[in-house]
Amino acid sequence: MKIEKFSMESYDDIITLWRKAGINVGSTDTKEEIEIMVKRNPQLFLVGILDQKLISVVMGGFDGRRGYVHHLAVDPDYQKKGYGKMMMDELLVSFRKMGVHKVHLFIEKYNKEVVKFYHNLGWEIRDDLIMMSYIPDKNLYKMRI
Ligand SMILES: CC(C)(COP(=O)(O)OP(=O)(O)OC[C@H]1O[C@@H](n2cnc3c(N)ncnc32)[C@H](O)[C@@H]1OP(=O)(O)O)[C@@H](O)C(=O)NCCC(=O)NCCS
Repeated sequence: MKIEKFSMESYDDIITLWRKAGINVGSTDTKEEIEIMVKRNPQLFLVGILDQKLISVVMGGFDGRRGYVHHLAVDPDYQKKGYGKMMMDELLVSFRKMGVHKVHLFIEKYNKEVVKFYHNLGWEIRDDLIMMSYIPDKNLYKMRI
């Protein structure tokens, strides 16, 4: 698998892949919002290509203090072959180059089994934190699109 920087030409492919992999595609995943994300984080938004097919994707973000990982997905037809680990390894190289001190990610509770995957890669569960969210504009935010 070859890992490349995401470009907007692959927008439809990543949406298809996220849906196939069971990721909730929400209001921050429209073309306009994804374009904002890639412009801000061009080094951190990666896709994996195998035999000219897009089979994996991960969106990294850096807000100037912490790094974040969003929507990592490997096509279910290609899972458990090491591609997810490859994507995370590559992303973490970029975070390290940027001098990021700490990277966070969020796992929805229905998806608990994925904890083992991240645990294998050296990630740790935080039980000293409570996550809270605030929605500034309820008309803007939609869980799914
Ligand atoms: C999570 C995901 C990206 C992992 O990708 P993958 O290519 O299947 O993972 P890898 O093959 O690189 O796995 C690396 C290691 O983690 C293990 N692993 C992978 N998925 C696992 C799972 N669901 N449960 C337990 N272990 C898992 C592998 O066995 C492997 O271990 P090994 O090195 O000892 O053999 C993939 O399962 C996926 O796309 N899931 C659906 C979307 C999702 O939940 N994304 C995460 C959102 S937070």
